[in-house]
Amino acid sequence: MALQSVRGFHDILGDDILRFKKVSGTARSVLKRHNFEEIVLPVVEYAELFQRSIGEVTDIVQKEMFVFKDRKGRVLALRPEGTAGTVRAFIQHKLYAKRPYTKLFYEGPMFRYERPQAGRYRQFHQIGAEVFGVQEPTADAEVISVVYKILNSLGIEAVIEINSLGCKECRPAYRQALKEFLSTKEENLCKDCVSRKERNPLRVLDCKEKSCQMTVKDAPKTVDFLCDSCNEHFNKLKELLTELSIPYRENSNLVRGLDYYTRTVFEAVAESLDTTVIAGGRYDYLVEELGGPPTPALGFAVGIERLSLLLKEIEEQEGLYIVIPFGNVQGYALEVAEKLRNKGKRVEFSYRKGGLRKQLEFADKLRAKFAVIIGEDEMREGVVTLKDMESGEQSKIKADEIV
Ligand code: HAM
Repeated sequence: MALQSVRGFHDILGDDILRFKKVSGTARSVLKRHNFEEIVLPVVEYAELFQRSIGEVTDIVQKEMFVFKDRKGRVLALRPEGTAGTVRAFIQHKLYAKRPYTKLFYEGPMFRYERPQAGRYRQFHQIGAEVFGVQEPTADAEVISVVYKILNSLGIEAVIEINSLGCKECRPAYRQALKEFLSTKEENLCKDCVSRKERNPLRVLDCKEKSCQMTVKDAPKTVDFLCDSCNEHFNKLKELLTELSIPYRENSNLVRGLDYYTRTVFEAVAESLDTTVIAGGRYDYLVEELGGPPTPALGFAVGIERLSLLLKEIEEQEGLYIVIPFGNVQGYALEVAEKLRNKGKRVEFSYRKGGLRKQLEFADKLRAKFAVIIGEDEMREGVVTLKDMESGEQSKIKADEIV
């Protein structure tokens, strides 16, 4: 039998590569305008780094990490995400001593042993960014504005949801209230959550089991327990987002699946995929917990495959245009093709020789949605004949009005 790729590990080829590069290129160009610097991190780290940062009692660490021993018996892991490695590098290279604050981004494969399905793989790619050393909510607003710009530049519709998880001051009271609530609901919780509710009750809030999800609907909300300074931080962030005209929705059930978060957390959720495509938040204690000086920090990561899937949906809806020149009209036809491309459309210019019928057969072969037929009459009148390839309907319209 011929060898196949490993389950959950996929090749990226054909048109998927174009979409992958488009997501990556768009994110890079937005990050560049915000003056983030690139860092290339290793794919393998000591497993302990992820246990100590993402948290022992999380799905990622308990169930999803690829952990192995090397020949010397060191316990290593394929990185499941990029924040922990960036923090490790920030401390290791004493970046905190070089500048008052630091803005980094990374791109590359991440590995999680999850059940594969559309948009969920065991090897997937993220482009992520982290800001170290800024306490002010302006940084939260900047990071969320970067997320918003990436989505907007790609033409992707996703709702940005935000929440605040509080800090060392206010989290304990919330944790206690949540624990008390969950202890009255034990019979409705899955086996994992019965033990989670003692060791890490917040994790129950993002359990994927239906019965747990139903149960936590009435659970106490983090925002009702925020101390004054967390409240002020969250309110200021919301004010800034409004000033920047960034639409957002508050979701008091949003807790995220990693333990390092404090205060602001956010996710961009795409309704058509019914999943999160970009996610992030603050982690003000992580640098110190991993051995660095106290340094507030925050960041986000884009799931490149998930955004690529959304781009594919958009392309399928919009379809391909094929411009068919017919007679001595090459210059005018090229101009029309360019106009369409400038409006963001995917356009093929037909170089196929032969009569109109042959060219339309070619358009069918390419699965074009519209044929833009341009003959000498059309050129003279400054119009095109637009043919809907599915219904066969066609009409003459002004070249500027095709889209
Ligand atoms: P995360 O929510 O675990 O956060 O992952 C971020 C994004 O990676 C998700 O929104 C999703 O698009 C993508 N992703 C996650 N798992 C998979 C998978 N199995 N297959 C395909 N795509 C996936 C983090 O990783 C944090 N490090 C984000 C962050 C940065 N927070 C602060 N700084």
